[in-house]
Amino acid sequence: MKKIVVAIDGPAGAGKSTISKLVAQKLGIEYIDTGAMYRAVTLKIIRNKIDVSDDVTLEKMLNSTEITLENGKVYLDGEDVSTEIRQLYVSGRVSEIAAKQVVRDRLVELQRKMALSKNVIMDGRDIGTVVLKDANYKIYLTASVEERAARRYKEFCQQNSSVTFQEICNDIKERDRIDMNRSYNPLVKAEDAILIDTTGKSIDEVVDEILLIIKNN
Ligand code: C5P
Repeated sequence: MKKIVVAIDGPAGAGKSTISKLVAQKLGIEYIDTGAMYRAVTLKIIRNKIDVSDDVTLEKMLNSTEITLENGKVYLDGEDVSTEIRQLYVSGRVSEIAAKQVVRDRLVELQRKMALSKNVIMDGRDIGTVVLKDANYKIYLTASVEERAARRYKEFCQQNSSVTFQEICNDIKERDRIDMNRSYNPLVKAEDAILIDTTGKSIDEVVDEILLIIKNN
């Protein structure tokens, strides 16, 4: 059977993780959320008040950090941090930390190991361009900023969070700005990725579109 390696990239709130999870379920393959890994590292840096301008300390910390993704949960050094890493105070620092080469090199190495000799769907910002350059399916998911912020706002409201729509909108815009403009492995559409604009589309529609791409190629 042909190996299935799917790379999903795109800006914040484009629906990457929800859609990737569903595609993974339908195909019976593993889903790897690389954003969760950058978030877990960010949480550890915040908690330990690590100076991110000090690459030596950062590298030491990264080498002694264990991040595992299991049954939809994210573990940082054995602790379930799935909920905490989604909080706005983590989102507000993650792009600054993800722009650091020492952080990216370590996480890319881990991500490649996780995907080794498996059928996977992996989502992030540099999957089709860096992590899994040889993926046989590459998708770039996007949507208007307003729609992406509205989706995130709905998620936060469901968790009874007091975050405002404006705060979410600002977070998304700022993360996109940093992610797209960093010098090392910025967010760009891979030349061979298929662009899907999810504005106005339902989750199921996009999932079906991706499944069709995989079936037909
Ligand atoms: O996917 P999510 O929005 O949770 O990712 C959080 C942040 O992690 C992004 O805004 C980006 O700064 C960083 N990230 C990255 N490369 C990836 C995945 C996420 O730089 N492959």
